Amino acid sequence: MGDHSTVIALSGKGGVGKTSLSAAIVRILTEEKPDKKILAIDADPAIGLSVALGVTVKETLDEIRLKVAKDVTEGMSETQDILAEAKFRIFEAMKEDKGFAFLAIGRPEAAGCYCAINTYLRQVISMIADDFDYVVIDGEAGIEQINRRVMEKVTHLLLVSDQSRKGIEIIKTIDRVSKELVMAEKSGAVLNRILHPESLDESILEGIPLLSVIGADDVLVENDIEGMSSFELPKDARILEGARKALNKLEII
Ligand SMILES: Nc1ncnc2c1ncn2[C@@H]1O[C@H](COP(=O)(O)OP(=O)(O)OP(=O)(O)O)[C@@H](O)[C@H]1O
Ligand SMILES: [Mg+2]
Repeated sequence: MGDHSTVIALSGKGGVGKTSLSAAIVRILTEEKPDKKILAIDADPAIGLSVALGVTVKETLDEIRLKVAKDVTEGMSETQDILAEAKFRIFEAMKEDKGFAFLAIGRPEAAGCYCAINTYLRQVISMIADDFDYVVIDGEAGIEQINRRVMEKVTHLLLVSDQSRKGIEIIKTIDRVSKELVMAEKSGAVLNRILHPESLDESILEGIPLLSVIGADDVLVENDIEGMSSFELPKDARILEGARKALNKLEII
């Protein structure tokens, strides 16, 4: 093990397969790195990674944030106490027995701005990343969390897209902005749900390294319809093979 943790984040347009791929990566890491500490973070307020991993959410980060804030107003004022309480609650919430820990940002009840929870998430990632060997972050769709530096500690950035012009434009923007706001050692594109993978024209990426191409897969669709997790997919499911290939190219496995 190197001297710092591997923090993998998935980013891209809505609906391109970020959650499916995040869940596939978590499964592969538990299989390939059984003695390592792995944390999965659902950073999307829309929630979905818990289902894709087959875990139940105990307390979300947003709930913890509100509870700790309430304790502060009720008199607990020592900074160390507040931090210790937040850390304790976060570690309680993360406990999971499937070979990885899990944390969900949750759905903030106040409508509109997610700034507060995103700032909190950024601080929490800084605080807990070192306690794990691998952290996998399923990002919210779009570029907001990159802009807000939520992803600043990310070491490996996966830009996920389908074949759509819009999806590709978004990962190009993320690639450009992340060069300034994310300290990733490596990054690259995963093209998912591709109709004719063998005839895909790589030049559409304009220089972004291509990590893997994943075909459309009915097995995954059926798995999702049944509400089953990535751990229930057949070993040769396309999403798992594509995730393995991407992790290989990034030299993570
Ligand atoms: N390779 C694939 N073949 C077929 N269906 C797929 C593939 N990858 C993902 N899907 C399906 O596409 C849908 C969206 O996938 P997923 O939820 O992983 O995307 P997402 O990027 O996380 O979306 P969101 O931005 O809404 O969080 C799901 O129903 C999933 O089953
Ligand atoms: Mg998702």
